[in-house]
Amino acid sequence: MIEKKNTQNDRKEILTTQQGHPVTDNQNVRTIGNRGAMTLENYDFLEKISHFDREKIPERIVHARGAGAHGYFQSYGTVNGESISKYTRAKVFTNTSVKTPVFVRFSTVVHGNHSPETLRDPRGFAVKFYTEDGNWDLVGNNLKIFFIRDPLKFPDMIHAFRPDPVTNVQNLERMFDFISMSPEALHMVTFVFSPWGIPATYRHMQGSGVHTYKWVNEEGKAVLVKYHWEPVQGIKNLTQEEANEIQGETFNHATEDLYYSIENGDYPEWELYVQIMEDGEHPELDYDPLDPTKLWYKEDYPWHKVGKMVLNKNPHNYHAEVEQSAFGTGVLVDGLDFSDDKLLQGRTYSYSDTQRYRVGPNYLQLPINRPHTNVATNQEGGQMDFRQDYHTDKNPHINYEPSLTGGLKEAKNPGKEHQPYVEGHLQRQAISRENNFGQAGETYRRLADWEKDELIRNLVSALSGCHKDIQTKMIEMFYQCDKDYGMRVEEGLKQVMQGDSQAIHKTNNQRENIGHVSDPY
Ligand code: HEM
Repeated sequence: MIEKKNTQNDRKEILTTQQGHPVTDNQNVRTIGNRGAMTLENYDFLEKISHFDREKIPERIVHARGAGAHGYFQSYGTVNGESISKYTRAKVFTNTSVKTPVFVRFSTVVHGNHSPETLRDPRGFAVKFYTEDGNWDLVGNNLKIFFIRDPLKFPDMIHAFRPDPVTNVQNLERMFDFISMSPEALHMVTFVFSPWGIPATYRHMQGSGVHTYKWVNEEGKAVLVKYHWEPVQGIKNLTQEEANEIQGETFNHATEDLYYSIENGDYPEWELYVQIMEDGEHPELDYDPLDPTKLWYKEDYPWHKVGKMVLNKNPHNYHAEVEQSAFGTGVLVDGLDFSDDKLLQGRTYSYSDTQRYRVGPNYLQLPINRPHTNVATNQEGGQMDFRQDYHTDKNPHINYEPSLTGGLKEAKNPGKEHQPYVEGHLQRQAISRENNFGQAGETYRRLADWEKDELIRNLVSALSGCHKDIQTKMIEMFYQCDKDYGMRVEEGLKQVMQGDSQAIHKTNNQRENIGHVSDPY
């Protein structure tokens, strides 16, 4: 037998400490005699156990359970047959020859890391585009709307949805207590308690930016846009019973599905669509176009296909890439802009704030978060600042701007600035066109019969454990959405409260299509 040479490659396979010292015994600590005691100079052991003690970072305050994948996005360059540059100068859209690398993280919202992936909950759909102009994050959900429209309500809403602070058990009475006092949530509740509240897998769900954003062109002119991801795999949702069955076997089905599809070369794809509205208040509509609890119906504002995303690579390491990834709604590139949506503006502060705490002040230097373009900034220092390329300028002493003698310079403005004109009194007031029930009723009417059955069954089951006052208030609001909607919840609850717990299972329209569902929204 030929003896193997000790090559450079072999050295790479040898276990070392973090200081690079080869580990010759990874089974036994150093002791006086083989029974102990241990001595304090067991440096390799102390280092190993101290690092282990710190392996976890705080989990996300919401969306803690997630799965991620790498891939690319490519723009088609047109909107409804016209050049996309008519609407936006963002290079990620105008440059059709580039496959922009992306990292996507899908998630559930309310419960902690390792909670079951079968839970009724919106799903997060966050995409980081590493564009030639720096990062763009589109931090969306699977559903196209949200529960609330004012960011001041977000912490209370999440508290109500989360487990009770005393028992640590989720209690839907707390959730409906909050919702019964937040009529704007009725539309989202209608989606979440229907089969749309449990997507079958991450690959079979849509994604949506939810908020209204802006696109800005070369002349600085803006239009309002909404983004939607459509899964090429089709949309599939689960009934509560199907979800229960899956949960009996595994609580990781969505992560497994995503990981092994990619591992087996069956790469999931989504097409990106935008809806476009002229910039303005649109008094002709019975809703405010900036209201994130509202849909822009397809028949009024068609979905225009603008590009495709393919996920073709699994992360090498979950913690480094998925857990430490950091998305935020403030992360936009030239040609894309915020709208005045209050919820969007409230979110925009929250994300990088929590990431400085959750990951650290230099979270943007981690490979998963750093842009794929040159980063040259005078923002420096802080824990774990490990940049090698501190000052690309010839004079590394100049870490400020402006300077006559050197340092980094401001870039030229790539196009005319979009300068919206705003005026008004500084005030605390809800928007004028709240219209909390109109679209919720329409969404109910557009559900297929089996989806309606599921919705009523899930609502009745959830509300049956709630205080009478909450039930009454919720029924009253369902009536305001749609008479049939209110009647069915009221009737179902009455039967269940009278002891006929099977009543809600009796009227069961057959599911029309076991496979994919169509999207009338
Ligand atoms: C995660 C705040 C509304 C989608 C988070 C995180 C915070 C947060 C603090 C954790 C981020 C991290 O640790 O990296 C808020 C606030 C909201 C709001 C204050 C409203 C005022 C929304 C809405 C959507 C959404 C409307 C959907 C359009 C997401 C997603 C994640 C997330 C997808 C997970 C991102 C990831 O995978 O890392 N949110 N959120 N959030 N949020 Fe929100």
